[in-house]
Amino acid sequence: MSRPTVRGQRPGWWQDAVIYQVYPRSFADGDGDGVGDLAGLLDRLPYIASLGVDGIWMTPFQPSPQVDQGYDVSDYCAVDPLFGTMEQFDQVLEAAHALGLRIFLDVVPNHCSSEHPLFQAAVAADSGSPERAMFHFENGVDDDTPPNNWQSVFGGRAWSRVNPGSDTDKEWYLHLFSPEQPDWNWRNPAVGDYFEGVLRFWFDKGVDGLRIDVAHALFKADGLPDTASTDGVVNGLRSNPQVSDQDEVHEVYRRWRRVADSYSPTRVLVGEVNLEPHRAARYTRHDEMHQAFAFAFVKLGWDAAAWAAVGTELEAARKEHGAPLTWALENHDIVRSVTRFGGGERGTLRARAGLLAILGLPGGAYIYQGQELNLPEAEVPLHARADPMWTRAGVSRDGARVPLPWTVAAENTYGFSPAGAADPWLPVPAAWGSRSVQMQLDDPASTLQLVTEALRVRRELIEKEILSPDDATTWHVQDNGLLLCERGDRFLLAVAMGEEPCALPQGSVVLASSPLTDAGLLPADSAVWLLREESRT
Ligand code: GLC
Repeated sequence: MSRPTVRGQRPGWWQDAVIYQVYPRSFADGDGDGVGDLAGLLDRLPYIASLGVDGIWMTPFQPSPQVDQGYDVSDYCAVDPLFGTMEQFDQVLEAAHALGLRIFLDVVPNHCSSEHPLFQAAVAADSGSPERAMFHFENGVDDDTPPNNWQSVFGGRAWSRVNPGSDTDKEWYLHLFSPEQPDWNWRNPAVGDYFEGVLRFWFDKGVDGLRIDVAHALFKADGLPDTASTDGVVNGLRSNPQVSDQDEVHEVYRRWRRVADSYSPTRVLVGEVNLEPHRAARYTRHDEMHQAFAFAFVKLGWDAAAWAAVGTELEAARKEHGAPLTWALENHDIVRSVTRFGGGERGTLRARAGLLAILGLPGGAYIYQGQELNLPEAEVPLHARADPMWTRAGVSRDGARVPLPWTVAAENTYGFSPAGAADPWLPVPAAWGSRSVQMQLDDPASTLQLVTEALRVRRELIEKEILSPDDATTWHVQDNGLLLCERGDRFLLAVAMGEEPCALPQGSVVLASSPLTDAGLLPADSAVWLLREESRT
């Protein structure tokens, strides 16, 4: 019997779902304050549905002082007035469901905002109190030396004095990110209970899944020992075993999975687990999260050998633990792939090819807003940069976060805002009208059209059971730089990552990111999906 095919409704639908990441601040501005919001999103939901994706992941819109653009949450179960109201969120959810789109929200369980009432209560309480036990409060070595040598991901030390200058309160609190983002103490069971309430609040509303922020860092090594180096925390929390990836964290996700599975249909958990493949795969064991982004792949450059090596490693880790992989090339934290892959004309071709490539790999895929328009990283003037990483560590993620261009004409920030609106929260580069949604809808050769077609064909191949999320993959690189990924029995992905056009292996072309040459070669910086005859055996 063939599988039921209603998008987003068959069991295990998430395993090969394509999810569109909405960064609400920069998606569409409904109320004219220059910041994207829920009204803007509601209005443009049909656009997202027209791409043919299965759902949306929304980055945080909950109340927040916005120090880290919403990843400093002061109330997990409400809507920041900057983005609208809970009523508008309910409308977004209902309209999305009516369009066949699932909604995933971001949950930030590693830290909250220093304005969160529970942190405020902890600051007001005494050392050793139950209020302080919700976070990591510790005495320092002395007045100027924190409890350990940990460095924050955003630069500078990971500890701040709670009452600087006080003679009686000498405690420091831990923040792996900015001082305005205190880390919860997950060794205190009250924290786990609190977050179960948060999960249930959104799941009860009908939210379909959660993306879990910094999912591997909730537990720190017991006793918070020094790290061997002081630069490892900055390096994606990967290299210092004391700071993240403790065995205890898996119990959290087992509990969350039980909560998710108590709903029908099950709610989906996808983790930001920025670890090497064999460590990250442990978070998707059968009773933990459903998905974890393949981070080892997310940040790769245009390098066939590296793609093949990481692809092979991810495949080995997948086989060990069974869950399908989850592919992405972009998100709001990393440089846009056009720019990462070299910029200019070649970067533009490569990013198109890269996106077609991940959509042809087995498992789930995430598309970051604007990736379907092939936007490059924007050059954001120094005075306009808003990322806390910029001030603390000299790294700005703003260039991947500028408002989307909707119209060819520059008025109203290329259609991002309504008439008469305030300036956008980040400036949009001049000439982005030529990359706008409006422009690309009218151009059959645009990346927007390629993505829409890729998603249509992908769904068809899934429905015909030619593609399955747990197809095995084998990766090779030819001397001419042609990367090949054999998927299952019949599907082949080829990416020309060298300097020359490449002859293609046998198979019929299903979709290509650039037209083949007259001689039938795949031009450099292009990808193609090939299908082979059904085997007769
Ligand atoms: C995640 C988010 C990032 C944020 C950080 C701290 O990595 O994706 O934007 O700054 O967590 O919450």
